[in-house]
Amino acid sequence: MERGPWPRAMAARWLLLLLLGPALQVHAQLDSSDFISIDCGLPETSTGFTDNVTKLSYVPDTGFTDAGTNHNISAEYVTASLPMNWHTLRSFSGDRDARSCYTVGDLVSGLKYLIRAMFMYGNYDNLNRLPIFDLYLGVNYWQTVNISATDEMMIYEIISIISDDHVQVCLVDTGSGTPFISSLDLRPLKNNLYPQSDESQGLVLSDRRNFGASDSVIVRYPDDPYHRIWMPLLSKTAEWSVISTDNIVENRSNSFEAPSAVMQTAVMPTDPSSAFGFIWNAQSSAKNHMPGYVCMVYLAELQHLPRNTVRQFNIYLNGELGYSGGYTPSYLFTDVIYSDKPFYSSHPYNISMNATKTSTLPPIMNAAEIFSVVSTTGTATIAQEVAAITAVRDTYKVKKNWMGDPCAPKKYAWDGLRCKYFESSPPSVTGLNLSSSGLSGNVSFSFANLKGLQYLDLSSNNLTGSIPEILSQLSLLTLLDFTGNQI
Ligand SMILES: *[C@@H]1O[C@H](CO)[C@@H](O)[C@H](O)[C@H]1NC(C)=O
Ligand SMILES: *[C@@H]1O[C@H](CO)[C@@H](O)[C@H](O)[C@H]1NC(C)=O
Ligand SMILES: *[C@@H]1O[C@H](CO)[C@@H](O)[C@H](O)[C@H]1NC(C)=O
Ligand SMILES: *[C@@H]1O[C@H](CO)[C@@H](O)[C@H](O)[C@H]1NC(C)=O
Ligand SMILES: *[C@@H]1O[C@H](CO)[C@@H](O)[C@H](O)[C@H]1NC(C)=O
Ligand SMILES: *[C@@H]1O[C@H](CO)[C@@H](O)[C@H](O)[C@H]1NC(C)=O
Ligand SMILES: *[C@@H]1O[C@H](CO)[C@@H](O)[C@H](O)[C@H]1NC(C)=O
Ligand SMILES: *[C@@H]1O[C@H](CO)[C@@H](O)[C@H](O)[C@H]1NC(C)=O
Ligand SMILES: *[C@@H]1O[C@H](CO)[C@@H](O)[C@H](O)[C@H]1NC(C)=O
Repeated sequence: MERGPWPRAMAARWLLLLLLGPALQVHAQLDSSDFISIDCGLPETSTGFTDNVTKLSYVPDTGFTDAGTNHNISAEYVTASLPMNWHTLRSFSGDRDARSCYTVGDLVSGLKYLIRAMFMYGNYDNLNRLPIFDLYLGVNYWQTVNISATDEMMIYEIISIISDDHVQVCLVDTGSGTPFISSLDLRPLKNNLYPQSDESQGLVLSDRRNFGASDSVIVRYPDDPYHRIWMPLLSKTAEWSVISTDNIVENRSNSFEAPSAVMQTAVMPTDPSSAFGFIWNAQSSAKNHMPGYVCMVYLAELQHLPRNTVRQFNIYLNGELGYSGGYTPSYLFTDVIYSDKPFYSSHPYNISMNATKTSTLPPIMNAAEIFSVVSTTGTATIAQEVAAITAVRDTYKVKKNWMGDPCAPKKYAWDGLRCKYFESSPPSVTGLNLSSSGLSGNVSFSFANLKGLQYLDLSSNNLTGSIPEILSQLSLLTLLDFTGNQI
């Protein structure tokens, strides 16, 4: 446990709607050996380190990306309590629209992951200029990183199903400063957690709060087996009173496994008749103008109630009744009440609760999470063509900013490539122009795997040998230019 500034990117904003399912299904526990923890910017010779609080091992980022340069944050921002993963970073100077990616493999295709990117600027470049840049998960826009202070530890998190055995996390230069990253975490989740995250939609964390916790208490791994980070909120205010228990609060399998340590504290209104709840504002961005929100409210009774007392309350989203008939939390068992579909509002979102007429006790709440939703329907280029063009890049050490998916998103397609886009199938490479690109050596067979190729311009290079017979199999090819080589 430690005290830390709460990333401003997650400052209070919120939502909800309701659904309460049966308690069923127990799956095998995924364990921390499946965690991937990358500390960006460590020297290549480093063997990594073990985090003091979580005891999780961090590895250097060599091997996950071949771009960028390593930096230390300025010495003035290194304090004794600053965890190691914030000390170094990797930055990616380049042109506007340049994309720099980490490729993380050894994932389970079809599994849901929590992916967390962390940023602390720490004036590493001595320019004192706070950058803004975009974050992509594969070919899909995730979020805009807006570094708001030099010493701020900023955490951006997405829950998404990964449809391959690897994923790319990309930083895109939007012309507002040099992208950088301090560390990157991937944590597998059970697929029945967070059902709003599916094949077509990811959940971007807005806020995750542990109500009633002391200001210095941050719950994370190992208390949370998925290494979610639960920040405290308002341990004591005039309006809210805290209740707590030392007893274990059990999760039900459909309650997203909020940790007992989080559920053991709760807040309730000091004045039982006053409005009780929380609000948040939608955060729009240039690429997600009106994001929808989903919210989870975690509830458990912590007091052994005497006979003749009843705690029963209504839960409203923006004044609309979410849970009809009055809800009574279970003693030492967690329920989660959540919206199964995103909710859209141009006004602040407002979750409020009030006791029903039969209730003798005020409402309580133990924890909450708020996420905005992002579409993950963008499709990557045909896998065989990605492999072929990647082989070309690696064979000839092509000196262009060729990172991320070759064709998608369209705006960031690789220089020298022309792609064709389809309604419901992956994009395909139709043209490749590597004229005057300093290529030398033989003509790679990999070109022949770009099956949709209509033109291939390799003029004005230093290619030698002969033109491989196999290129004649490219049935759509109408232009093949090898002039200016030693063929
Ligand atoms: C970062 O600091 C360490 C130790 O102080 C030093 O060995 C390393 O060379 C520095 N790295 C860079 C990129 O300056
Ligand atoms: C982590 O623990 C080591 C060894 O106990 C100590 O030297 C180091 O200062 C600690 N680092 C942080 C960030 O607490
Ligand atoms: C970045 O954050 C600042 C406040 O810290 C805000 O004024 C600005 O509009 C934000 N920019 C973008 C592009 O989100
Ligand atoms: C939730 O309950 C299951 C089954 O009892 C248990 O394996 C798991 O560790 C619990 N999760 C948390 C976060 O306590
Ligand atoms: C939230 O809703 C409740 C009732 O639904 C209302 O009393 C309260 O004033 C609202 N709060 C805000 C900040 O809109
Ligand atoms: C609870 O709040 C709702 C919405 O503000 C209101 O309509 C309802 O009468 C309140 N119920 C009680 C029992 O006060
Ligand atoms: C390839 O690029 C060069 C230089 O930009 C240009 O002159 C040439 O026409 C291009 N080839 C094709 C087939 O478009
Ligand atoms: C180029 O191809 C020739 C014949 O196909 C082969 O002997 C030679 O080893 C190749 N050279 C390189 C650098 O691949
Ligand atoms: C080919 O290579 C030679 C020497 O290796 C170099 O001088 C020449 O500029 C190269 N030509 C092209 C078109 O890259």
